[in-house]
Amino acid sequence: MNIIDPETGRQALAALLRERSPLGALKVLYARVGRFFQIPLPTFHPFVVGGPDANRKVLVSERKKVLWRNTDPVTDLLRDGVLVTDGEMHDHYRAVMEPALHASFFGAYTKTMLAQTDRVSSAWTNAQTVDMLVESRKIALLIIMETLFGVDVWNDLPRIWTPILKAIQYISPGMWIFWRRIPRLGYKKDLQTLDDYLHRIITDRRAGSPKKDLLQHLIDARLSDEVIRDQMLTMLIAGHDTSTALLAWTFHLLGTHPQVHERLVLALDESLGGQAPSAPSGWQPRLLDEVIKESMRLYPPIHIGNRRVIADMEFEGGSVPEGERLFYSIYLSHRDPEYWEAPDEFIPERFSSGRSQPPFTYVPFGGGPRICIGAAFGQAEARIVLARLLQTYKFIPLNKKVHAHMGATLEPRPGVMMRVLKRETLT
Ligand code: HEM
Repeated sequence: MNIIDPETGRQALAALLRERSPLGALKVLYARVGRFFQIPLPTFHPFVVGGPDANRKVLVSERKKVLWRNTDPVTDLLRDGVLVTDGEMHDHYRAVMEPALHASFFGAYTKTMLAQTDRVSSAWTNAQTVDMLVESRKIALLIIMETLFGVDVWNDLPRIWTPILKAIQYISPGMWIFWRRIPRLGYKKDLQTLDDYLHRIITDRRAGSPKKDLLQHLIDARLSDEVIRDQMLTMLIAGHDTSTALLAWTFHLLGTHPQVHERLVLALDESLGGQAPSAPSGWQPRLLDEVIKESMRLYPPIHIGNRRVIADMEFEGGSVPEGERLFYSIYLSHRDPEYWEAPDEFIPERFSSGRSQPPFTYVPFGGGPRICIGAAFGQAEARIVLARLLQTYKFIPLNKKVHAHMGATLEPRPGVMMRVLKRETLT
């Protein structure tokens, strides 16, 4: 078993304070202890693994030794959502929803992605200062609700904004990690508002005409309203909080790397030629994809996968007994110096075609049979939203210092403040 010596403990603590994020401490432990260690906190001592061999084990070859369902607030909130169920139940929900995320739908989704992006940006006045963390969330929320559930929530944003943020806060790491039964005060009303809102959408759909979207697939599968609510809330949170983080980090990285920013805008102007990015694919410059991939490498929106071990597992460096909590760290895998040159630097070209990474070193969407159900959707969305915003606005970064906040996703805090100037680039 790899041991954390006192000097490593001191360095981990210093990194925690310096980076204002537990990620700093985890990086120290990974570098000094290895790809397998246990976090030695009172009442919370999960095992952490990283790197391709461990990722492959957790995600593919030994996945039957772990459960996704844990005893934590994520399960309390999402109940029987596809993210926190296992076995046949999980496979059934996933099979019901997967067809709605098939590439054949992306033509229609692209139109919504473009329209909702324009909707949010057209509310900006010229030279206004905006927080791209907040603006990205608005865009991602409008997109997920309209594409998957057929509702335009623009007018309801003020009403559902706080309940959604509260739901995200409810499942974010907090004191409950150390004291599982700590009273969770101050959530009940907002979580109920969100539930009522989703139930209203289900009731309206049952009473109205069918549509071709994910909600319809859930209804047609004859699931109960409660189970439909669980899947909707899961898709709503997993499908918009991640995209929010990805977009916000990408704006932060472009703001702090002006040369890449400039090259990307030029490449987009050239490939779009004044036309809107209106098709799912075929128009995007390679650099756009490289920037998105590199953004997810440095700041994977989901930075760890959380598992409950149900049969002893062996890793290089030690074993995890049945009953323990196991994290596979996407963040640490993406910065492993054995597999990435200059791992902490933003170098989109590392994803140029012709270069390839060993399998399971890059896992922003997880892997194996339970790989992110929205991976293609999330990437298509990032391409359209970024291309459209960079085509129509010039973004001037105002705050360059952010820290990686470990919420439900990894977020750039306190935010990504930018001045937006309207560009006259459209034909
Ligand atoms: C940039 C965007 C996204 C990122 C980085 C991301 C990342 C991930 C990761 C890493 C996992 C696996 C976690 C693990 O192994 O523990 C996952 C699972 C999942 N994601 Fe995403 N995701 C994104 C977008 C989306 C979108 C757009 C949706 C919905 C449309 C979505 C819905 C889900 C669901 C339901 C699961 C659980 C799948 C299952 O267990 O079968 N995600 N995501």
